Amino acid sequence: MNKKKRKVKKGWMVLLIFILLLGGVLWISTNRKGPEETKFEEKVPNESNESFDNETKQKLEKLDNIQEKINYFHMDYIDRYISYHEKNPNLSMEDVITRVNIGLDQDYYTHTKESPYLNQVYILSNKYITLSDYVPENLEKVSSSCSTGTRYLVREARLAFEEMCADAKKEGYTINAMSTYRSYEYQVGLYQRYVDQDGVEKADTYSARPGFSEHQTGLVADVDNRKTAYTSFDTTKEYTWMQNNAYKYGFILRYPKGKEDITGYTYESWHYRYVGKEIASYIQENHITFDEYYVRFIEGKK
Ligand code: DAL
Ligand code: ZN
Repeated sequence: MNKKKRKVKKGWMVLLIFILLLGGVLWISTNRKGPEETKFEEKVPNESNESFDNETKQKLEKLDNIQEKINYFHMDYIDRYISYHEKNPNLSMEDVITRVNIGLDQDYYTHTKESPYLNQVYILSNKYITLSDYVPENLEKVSSSCSTGTRYLVREARLAFEEMCADAKKEGYTINAMSTYRSYEYQVGLYQRYVDQDGVEKADTYSARPGFSEHQTGLVADVDNRKTAYTSFDTTKEYTWMQNNAYKYGFILRYPKGKEDITGYTYESWHYRYVGKEIASYIQENHITFDEYYVRFIEGKK
């Protein structure tokens, strides 16, 4: 090969390598997603009803073919959706699907499943999902400047809580954790005390049964301002501060007023749940409960 030919060949090689490199960079930049984005992106809708048999098509029509718009629709629940829609004609179809997915068409504690997301910030426990005797990893002691007594939270929640407590303090507010992680065994005694005091029916409106308390996730803090009783937390200026700021640290008010029929618990102005900033911001903006968020965005994810 003469000098000129070699030069031309070299030029082509350089061009080829350049194209390959450029292609690689473009591929990486279009396919790259942050871990949060991957986990919580809006689900794509299910297919249209064309592929179903006539009986199913008729059922789907009763549900306004909502499966074409959302993908948290489960075909297995179709009869439950229809029946819940008939009993609750004023609810939007999205809400019908969401509530049946939560389990709200069935009595509390009658159809329970094990929580599949142990040691994740988006773990859910409610009257349909149990933690059994789960003990979270990475429980750490909360700073005594932000808690009463010896209190534990999962590391990520502890760091977020302490940051929130410190920032609040700088602005003149006291956010104090007075109950955080509670073990299965602890909840056995607590729930029994409430049952002895008020009977099962009443106790169930404000206390979780053992294995069903969110406190067992290590992601919850009941707070007060070290002065007013925690049950009157919503009369304090700290409550207003929490309403405006808790989500910035990844915390949500887990049992809000007016959502008792979804959460299954009476309003608790003092009970804050760590879910991470992305979920907390969505919940704050859209005024939904974590139970609803969970069935729409998390359930079924690996
Ligand atoms: N008070 C809340 C619901 C609990 O017992 O976990
Ligand atoms: Zn609580």
